[in-house]
Amino acid sequence: MTETSEKPLILVVEDQANHRKVLKGFLESKGWRTALAKDAGEALKALKKKEKPTVVLTDLKMPGTDGIELLRQLKGSFASLPVILMTAYGTVESAVEAMKLGASDFLAKPLDFEELERVVKKTLDSATREGDEWVSECGEGEHPLIGTSAVMKAVYTLIAKAGPSDASVLVLGETGTGKELVAAAVHAASARREKPFIKVHCGAIPEDLLEAELFGYEKGAFTGAVREKPGKFELADGGTVFLDEVGDMSAAMQVKLLRVLQSGEFDRVGGTGTLKVDVRVVSATNVDLEKAVADKRFREDLFYRLNIVPISLPPLRDRCDDIPELVNFLLQRLAAKNGKAVPSIESAAVEALTNAPWPGNVRQLENLLERALVLLDGDTVRREDLPLKTL
Ligand SMILES: Nc1ncnc2c1ncn2[C@@H]1O[C@H](COP(=O)(O)OP(=O)(O)OP(=O)(O)O)[C@@H](O)[C@H]1O
Ligand SMILES: [Mg+2]
Repeated sequence: MTETSEKPLILVVEDQANHRKVLKGFLESKGWRTALAKDAGEALKALKKKEKPTVVLTDLKMPGTDGIELLRQLKGSFASLPVILMTAYGTVESAVEAMKLGASDFLAKPLDFEELERVVKKTLDSATREGDEWVSECGEGEHPLIGTSAVMKAVYTLIAKAGPSDASVLVLGETGTGKELVAAAVHAASARREKPFIKVHCGAIPEDLLEAELFGYEKGAFTGAVREKPGKFELADGGTVFLDEVGDMSAAMQVKLLRVLQSGEFDRVGGTGTLKVDVRVVSATNVDLEKAVADKRFREDLFYRLNIVPISLPPLRDRCDDIPELVNFLLQRLAAKNGKAVPSIESAAVEALTNAPWPGNVRQLENLLERALVLLDGDTVRREDLPLKTL
């Protein structure tokens, strides 16, 4: 890495040319590098470049897409990218809204340069803390993990540590907490990331079908097996198999799974030769596996094999602070999915969502927002548009 590329890059979004120039001069005099954008469009273009800025410093009032809207968009696609807003005196409300939407900080205009320096420094420091680097990676893929609460940061740190190893990971958590996303993130953090990530839902499949699904079968192995078929373990060779609802496996399947975990070996159904693969296993369950072991419903040796690194996901009610950011992110994703414009959302609505109990966690939040969005007249989600009574 060259010396210049180690200096943090600050993206300045400001419509007035003279202000851009002054900011550039000041920030560079402090040893940072700058990229300049005159509006949200240019800012988004700058973010498509290979080198991403470490921090975005944006004006609130701009023609076209304003700073708040830019912030919403950035939080949707680059969840962990810190954004500092600059607002003129008298727009405290916008500043409060900005903080709710996940801005790192805000500065009053006209700018006090000492304060600017302090805020940028503080933001850069927290952006490079442990776990946050991973947050930024987790936050930018096709399926980003949203949330910067301490409990989620602990999850990201575990993903970053366990990901690159070949250790089996067991993801635990209530329904809808994001177990599948975490499993995919573990794969993405490993050297296997270019190889397949293959999911098997162990709960929904009857035992003999599950065996065929996992290990494949030979032609004629059973009625209907008109040609040979490779199983998920074969297909995932070099990559990762994600065993969802692993707690629901039958005793016979548990033995077969234990064998693959120990030796990488398995037989196709109806096969005569043993096959060997190199597969990493990540599994998930929302049942209490330790209790299942105590009740002799789940093999203890298999449990220890699967549970080398446990990652527990917090229920949504234990990370309410993440809800505004999640709402923002989900509204953008759902709007795109339903071919609708991204609506704004009233702060009273965000507050109601933040205080709801969410027994079905993020999935339930997502479903409720989708319903509100589909039925929405106008462009703002209000408190009364939310079917919260059913919670
Ligand atoms: N931290 C998060 N950030 C963004 N989206 C999330 C997050 N957690 C969950 N989701 C979304 O919520 C939905 C449910 O997540 P997921 O399927 O991973 O949950 P799960 O724990 O596997 O649930 P189940 O136990 O019911 O299978 C998905 O649409 C997912 O994208
Ligand atoms: Mg799941």
